[in-house]
Amino acid sequence: MTTPPRIPRHLAVIMDGNGRWAARRRRPRVIGHRAGARAVNLCIDFCLARGVEVLTLFAFSSENWGRPPDEVGALMRLFVNALEREIDELQRRGVCVRFVGERTRFGAAIAGRMDAAERATATNARLTLVVAASYGGRQDIASAARALAEDVAVGRLRPEDIDEAALGARMALSDLPPPDLFIRTGGELRISNFLLWQLAYTELWFTERLWPDLDDATLQEALDAFAARERRYGLTGEQLPVGGAPATGAIPVAAAATDIIGR
Ligand code: FPP
Repeated sequence: MTTPPRIPRHLAVIMDGNGRWAARRRRPRVIGHRAGARAVNLCIDFCLARGVEVLTLFAFSSENWGRPPDEVGALMRLFVNALEREIDELQRRGVCVRFVGERTRFGAAIAGRMDAAERATATNARLTLVVAASYGGRQDIASAARALAEDVAVGRLRPEDIDEAALGARMALSDLPPPDLFIRTGGELRISNFLLWQLAYTELWFTERLWPDLDDATLQEALDAFAARERRYGLTGEQLPVGGAPATGAIPVAAAATDIIGR
């Protein structure tokens, strides 16, 4: 009897390499971003086909606002067009869209379209697509800390009750399983202020392939690497149940460790 492959419940992706993809073709960077938008669709289809439940894409970091104004403008137009064009298609495929990050920085028109896309797809349940836009991991931690401070200030929370769970509950994506697998395309070996808190026990996988060149074979390679990893959550291999720890990090780390060692 063969065991079914371990599929990550939550895949988090840094889509890097659009600019270099365009430069290699002597085209403006925006052409690379357009090609990158096509790769987004391929990635969504792959997740739907494999039963991945959550896909989080780093579309625009807090730091990306510092890029040349024409590139930022082109990216904004791309986001708006993609939202308008793809919304029916996302509906048809059962994709629930969510955005994390500082939405107000995009201005009323884009923020309104983000709200509308979330409302229109809210009841879809095949795949949750989280688009991190104007997102930064440090900013996410800082705003969770601010929320804790506000709760303490009004007497809703005692300082001694502040623990990992209390902070984690105030972070982005706290209602979703944490990412099981992180993929970064484009050859850089770093996290670049993506989901700093949420990636604590995520398996990391990097590829030289540029984002617009993404294909099913590359994504499958990442899933195969994930399936071969032993997730220990700080324990020893001997403490893990037969067959290894669960494929998902859905359970908080402390609880996962307790479950695995049985006390
Ligand atoms: C990083 O490549 C990519 C971005 C900053 C933008 C990502 C945007 C898309 C893929 C467009 C569509 C997205 C959605 C969700 C509709 P880079 O420009 O830093 O590439 P480089 O490292 O080669 O310069």
